[in-house]
Amino acid sequence: MRNKIIFILAVFSSIAFTVKAQLDTSKTGCSNIACHGNLTNQEVVHHAVKKGCDNCHQSTGTQHPLKDVKGFKLVLDVPALCYKCHDENNTMKNVHPPVQKGNCLECHTPHSSPENNLLKKNPPADLCKQCHQLESASKRVKHEPVTKGECVKCHDPHQSDNSKLLNLESPALCLKCHKKQSEEIKMANVHPPFQNNCLNCHSHHSSTENKLLDLQPQSLCIYCHDDMQKKIDKATLVHGAVTDKKSCLNCHSPHASEQKKFLIADPDVLCLNCHDKTIVVGTRKIGNIKQIIQKSKDVHGAIDKVGCIGCHDPHASSNPFLLTKSFPAGSYAQANKESFGLCFSCHKSELLEKQTTTVTNFRNGDKNLHFVHVNGEKGRSCVICHNPHGSMNDNLINDKAPFGSWEMPLKYVPTENGGSCAPGCHTERKYDRVNSVLKDK
Ligand code: HEC
Ligand code: HEC
Ligand code: HEC
Ligand code: HEC
Ligand code: HEC
Ligand code: HEC
Ligand code: HEC
Ligand code: HEC
Ligand code: HEC
Ligand code: HEC
Ligand code: HEC
Ligand code: HEC
Ligand code: HEC
Repeated sequence: MRNKIIFILAVFSSIAFTVKAQLDTSKTGCSNIACHGNLTNQEVVHHAVKKGCDNCHQSTGTQHPLKDVKGFKLVLDVPALCYKCHDENNTMKNVHPPVQKGNCLECHTPHSSPENNLLKKNPPADLCKQCHQLESASKRVKHEPVTKGECVKCHDPHQSDNSKLLNLESPALCLKCHKKQSEEIKMANVHPPFQNNCLNCHSHHSSTENKLLDLQPQSLCIYCHDDMQKKIDKATLVHGAVTDKKSCLNCHSPHASEQKKFLIADPDVLCLNCHDKTIVVGTRKIGNIKQIIQKSKDVHGAIDKVGCIGCHDPHASSNPFLLTKSFPAGSYAQANKESFGLCFSCHKSELLEKQTTTVTNFRNGDKNLHFVHVNGEKGRSCVICHNPHGSMNDNLINDKAPFGSWEMPLKYVPTENGGSCAPGCHTERKYDRVNSVLKDK
């Protein structure tokens, strides 16, 4: 466009030079304060006007000035007149109807204006509002550039190849102003709807929800991840972190992350962000797992190997304690592989066989003491003796065995070939793998 204007300016000046005297339409003449001074005395004067009225007006041949007689007419009708010097702005896929119709003067003045771009009103929104009553901009939470009337930061007032006259398509449009998100989009793991289009989740002008969201966080995520809703519905236990108001956002970034599955932190750190204290739910106290792990001499190898989510489902489960596989809720369970599916997904289920000299060290000679304890319809659960997270003792042995609300000291003492314990259930008993000491009972 510049080239075109420069060329045209060059033509004007030469014409102006030769015919000025004859036409007497130079700016000094016509924009005389007494005559048309009011047209050109605003702050922003159209460059064309500065160059001379005759760029746009020509004499009709009648005498001027004369009351009720039009002494001048436009050299061309608008918009052809404007396109004489400006690039045509009705060439793209989507042209704004007032521009299509050539009604440039709906928005611009031809001579001068107090506003940039010779606008009739500022901010531009005041122009737009003449024709658009935006219901989409009237909701509780408003987007700041909309409130400020900066419609043209997002829309081209004339034309665009993008739908809705947008300057750019989302997400490029949004990332232009949102620096934090333009960093996020470069991260290792990017949520597909974030990559594709911000409007998958956000409203453009205003919204009833915070952060311009289309829906509240949980419903928003579930809208696309309906399989998660099915899982929650099917489960007997839903994690408090999921039912909490922040819900999914407690653990996931809606946009992107360096962590897999768009987690906001490494999963193990993530869990301990909340499980670094005792959580009280009704009469139940949920232990401080971070403290157990930090205090432990022996942390369960599973935590190192597979992390918390190796045993717990972060969302919901039909097993107690959100466990990923079967495990008894209380102190007892039928002694079989299925009851302790979780433990036996990594440890040998032969642990429950009556006799062995290889499978376990918890034996007296070849008598398997795991079998002895975890036996019958009412076998003792592993957690009576072991803490699944960590312990001050070898082999994850508890200091105290949980029996409902009662905690019974185990007084476990390992020895070179065995060990001893003196819990509330019986007097001190010893076992020795080499020289069996325990009398059959
Ligand atoms: C860029 C083109 C252009 C230039 C240059 C221009 N005019 Fe105009 N002028 C117009 C257009 C277009 C209209 C019609 C406005 C409308 O219909 O609302 C107009 C209208 C007018 C009118 C009618 C009253 C009004 O406000 O609508 C007067 C008077 C006028 N111009 C004087 C001048 C004078 C004096 C100059 C030079 C100082 C000048 N014009 C320079 C485009 C121009
Ligand atoms: C719906 C209102 C509207 C209409 C109709 C309109 N414009 Fe504009 N125009 C604007 C706004 C708003 C701006 C300022 C854009 C910005 O700040 O980015 C602008 C800027 C301009 C500019 C300067 C910036 C640029 O894009 O080069 C020119 C020249 C222009 N318009 C010419 C025209 C012409 C010619 C017509 C008629 C064919 C027209 N406009 C019709 C609203 C309008
Ligand atoms: C005779 C040539 C000519 C005609 C006819 C003309 N313009 Fe311009 N216009 C210019 C020049 C030159 C500029 C200054 C360009 C620049 O600064 O890049 C300009 C600038 C503008 C601007 C930007 C003002 C700003 O704030 O920078 C708008 C808007 C505009 N014209 C609208 C129109 C409209 C609407 C018409 C038709 C009614 C029109 N022009 C007709 C030559 C013309
Ligand atoms: C003179 C009246 C008029 C003005 C002023 C006007 N528009 Fe429009 N605009 C229309 C009409 C008519 C349509 C087509 C009908 C519709 O979709 O609402 C339209 C359509 C649009 C659309 C596309 C809507 C769609 O659903 O595809 C956008 C975006 C838009 N205008 C933005 C603006 C902005 C931004 C401004 C101010 C800079 C503005 N309009 C000023 C009359 C106007
Ligand atoms: C932050 C960018 C942004 C700003 C600022 C903005 N819009 Fe929009 N607008 C959009 C987007 C994006 C859409 C398209 C939404 C879609 O495709 O569903 C849109 C759609 C529209 C539509 C079509 C109908 C609708 O309501 O969705 C109109 C009309 C419109 N805008 C006018 C305006 C006006 C007038 C302003 C100034 C008051 C404005 N916009 C400010 C981004 C913006
Ligand atoms: C012209 C610059 C600009 C554009 C373009 C823009 N925004 Fe914004 N947006 C802002 C500003 C300024 C704020 C308020 C300050 C902040 O929260 O960063 C904001 C706030 C937001 C907020 C937070 C609202 C809240 O209540 O905290 C969201 C979400 C948002 N924008 C999404 C978008 C989306 C989606 C797009 C693209 C359709 C977009 N923005 C385009 C400037 C812009
Ligand atoms: C999958 C849904 C989704 C998509 C797609 C999405 N967002 Fe968000 N966005 C959210 C949610 C949910 C929040 C609220 C986060 C919170 O409260 O912690 C948010 C918050 C924001 C905020 C406010 C951030 C803050 O720190 O307050 C901005 C700005 C934002 N998004 C911009 C964008 C941009 C830009 C895009 C596109 C590149 C985008 N969003 C795409 C869901 C989405
Ligand atoms: C507009 C649809 C949409 C919305 C809304 C949405 N997602 Fe997604 N999400 C997807 C798509 C598409 C994928 C990639 C396909 C897949 O893996 O399921 C995905 C993938 C994911 C993944 C990785 C899945 C995997 O197996 O690797 C997680 C985690 C995720 N989304 C969480 C969320 C959260 C949290 C929210 C709410 C803030 C949310 N999503 C909202 C569409 C959506
Ligand atoms: C307590 C933290 C936490 C909360 C709250 C949470 N997630 Fe997850 N989510 C995770 C972890 C950790 C993974 C990774 C699991 C894996 O890698 O096996 C995950 C994985 C996913 C996946 C991938 C598929 C799958 O099932 O493993 C989707 C989809 C997902 N989450 C969606 C959601 C949605 C939707 C919500 C809200 C209703 C939500 N998440 C709430 C921690 C959470
Ligand atoms: C080897 C599997 C396993 C791993 C790995 C594991 N847990 Fe557990 N977790 C369990 C079992 C089994 C229970 C049930 C304990 C019981 O019956 O008292 C449990 C119980 C819990 C409880 C409920 C505690 C209470 O007092 O009711 C929380 C909270 C918990 N785990 C969090 C975690 C966190 C956080 C991690 C990662 C640091 C983790 N778990 C790793 C198996 C595991
Ligand atoms: C935003 C805080 C938060 C985060 C993060 C969190 N939790 Fe929880 N968790 C809770 C709350 C609150 C409860 C107790 C409420 C409930 O679930 O009934 C709980 C309960 C639990 C329980 C006991 C469930 C029961 O009823 O027996 C387990 C197991 C558990 N969380 C494991 C995890 C694991 C594994 C992670 C990491 C993937 C994790 N939590 C991350 C807040 C959190
Ligand atoms: C995800 C696999 C996995 C699951 C599930 C698992 N463990 Fe482990 N367990 C390990 C690993 C790894 C070790 C470290 C020793 C090794 O490498 O064999 C270990 C070691 C142990 C030890 C010996 C501790 C030591 O100091 O050597 C005990 C006791 C134990 N687990 C009990 C259990 C119980 C009880 C369960 C069920 C609640 C269980 N484990 C579930 C992987 C698992
Ligand atoms: C009555 C207490 C008690 C119960 C109940 C118990 N264990 Fe043990 N377990 C032990 C003792 C004591 C050791 C340590 C043996 C040694 O090294 O001297 C041990 C060791 C282990 C080991 C380390 C390898 C080995 O066998 O020496 C694993 C794995 C193990 N137990 C898993 C389980 C599982 C799984 C359950 C539940 C099905 C369970 N335990 C129930 C007391 C118990």
